[in-house]
Amino acid sequence: MALHFLLNRYETETTMPGGAVVLDLIRNGLHLTGTREGCREGDCGACTVLIGTPLAEGVSYRAVNSCLLPVAELRGRHLVTIEGLTPEGGLSIVQKAFVDLGASQCGFCTPGMIVSMTGYLLSTLEPTGKGAADALGGNICRCTGYAAVRRAAEETVRCIGPSPACSSSSPAHLEFLVEKGVLPEYFPGISSRIGELDTGGTVNSDARPVRLAGGTDLFAVRAGELREMPLELLCRDPSLRGIRREEGSTVLGAAVTVTELVESRVLRPYGDFHDSLDLVSSTQIRNRATLGGNIVNASPIGDLTVMLMPLGAELLLRSEAGAARTLPLHRFFLGYRKLDMREDELLESVRLPAPDPGILCSFEKVSMRRHMDIASVNSAALFVLSGDTIVSAEISAGGVAPVPMLLANTSRAIAGRTLSAETAGTAAMAAMEEVSPIDDVRGSAEYKRKLLGRLVRAHFLKVRPELGREALP
Ligand SMILES: Cc1cc2nc3c(=O)[nH]c(=O)nc-3n(C[C@H](O)[C@H](O)[C@H](O)COP(=O)(O)OP(=O)(O)OC[C@H]3O[C@@H](n4cnc5c(N)ncnc54)[C@H](O)[C@@H]3O)c2cc1C
Ligand code: FES
Ligand code: FES
Repeated sequence: MALHFLLNRYETETTMPGGAVVLDLIRNGLHLTGTREGCREGDCGACTVLIGTPLAEGVSYRAVNSCLLPVAELRGRHLVTIEGLTPEGGLSIVQKAFVDLGASQCGFCTPGMIVSMTGYLLSTLEPTGKGAADALGGNICRCTGYAAVRRAAEETVRCIGPSPACSSSSPAHLEFLVEKGVLPEYFPGISSRIGELDTGGTVNSDARPVRLAGGTDLFAVRAGELREMPLELLCRDPSLRGIRREEGSTVLGAAVTVTELVESRVLRPYGDFHDSLDLVSSTQIRNRATLGGNIVNASPIGDLTVMLMPLGAELLLRSEAGAARTLPLHRFFLGYRKLDMREDELLESVRLPAPDPGILCSFEKVSMRRHMDIASVNSAALFVLSGDTIVSAEISAGGVAPVPMLLANTSRAIAGRTLSAETAGTAAMAAMEEVSPIDDVRGSAEYKRKLLGRLVRAHFLKVRPELGREALP
């Protein structure tokens, strides 16, 4: 059954299997070779494309790694490759800045960089130089170096200025970007054309479909195996979407992406947990990776899992027959990659207690690179204080046991004590005793144990900077 979508300026269709990756469709099926193939694991950004999703007020564009995107996700969407960003007979303002400021040598990474930069300008109304540099955090260049790339990004932002539109998905924003030379002229017409696409037709198969949320985990490790498999696209299920306040709690749909969490006002009162979300990988990964995928992939170092544990997060699981049950997040992990979840169950949502204005949150992560890397060890802490006294504290840790852990002994050891450098030392010792790391590629057991001790001390310093170096001797 053919799948219909918009490819750059044109409506098109494909009969490629829904589980094949879009990178192969673009290069081998459509013969558009501007999109490069590098790592095929979401790590280099060479394969970056834009996906336009229709919304009530227009079209929302996001940069994603086409090597991790299944073809099935193109149904009813606008796929934009580097060829679709190049105006007839000229260069876009982003391309021109890269040429004029020497931001490209061999050119292998350049299409991915240009697409990521354009994705940034599409997704924000007030671009900044720093925002542009962050948006390129998922694109690796092996020969030019990043100073020239940064200059080109900053120069583009300077030339464009803020958009007068009220929403980044509105036609007015697209018209502004066309006027500024960022986008070719066909873009504003897409919002009406996308609505006319034939979105019908599903693949008939007796095989049980593989549940796919963002696919950043599944396609990074099982792309070959998934090619011919039927997929259940969880991100298209409205019951798994949305971020909302309900009486006394905050409810996060399991298929909410990390980018949606970053952009959500509802999550801002959770302080450092919200502010640390940009440590999860790169823009391209955050645009696809979901909360549910981060929890259900059962990684011992999932950043969102470790962040949500101290908040007392509760999971809502629903079976195919419709039966619902809830359980605390920290009880979900039974052993290495072993979950308290039946095959017929789906993670529907995650519920957090509404943020108490008195809570202090801290998230710490150590990885080889600041962005685009999974942690060696990560940890989160939540303190409730009365004056200088710790009324209660919850501390979690990842990468130091077969499962992400809530450190109950550590929390007990410091409840009722003063928030001081001495208590930071007590907490660090208790945490190091409570965990059981192993030697692996991310470091020796001893290194990870010591790292956790430092991260626990860093939580104290973050919530009470006056403790100074005494907290981190
Ligand atoms: C380059 C790269 C960098 C990364 N960096 C980080 C990082 O910095 N920090 C980090 O924490 N992770 C990182 N990851 C890991 C991964 O991206 C995240 O864990 C992500 O949140 C997984 O979500 P997903 O929606 O893509 O999961 P998917 O790949 O779609 O799914 C993962 C698993 O969960 C199941 N699943 C998903 N949703 C549900 C649901 N609602 N109910 C039941 N089952 C479900 C799927 O069937 C699958 O088994 C990185 C991955 C890559 C490729
Ligand atoms: S090929 Fe490297 S991120 Fe896709
Ligand atoms: S210009 Fe050669 S890899 Fe970036």
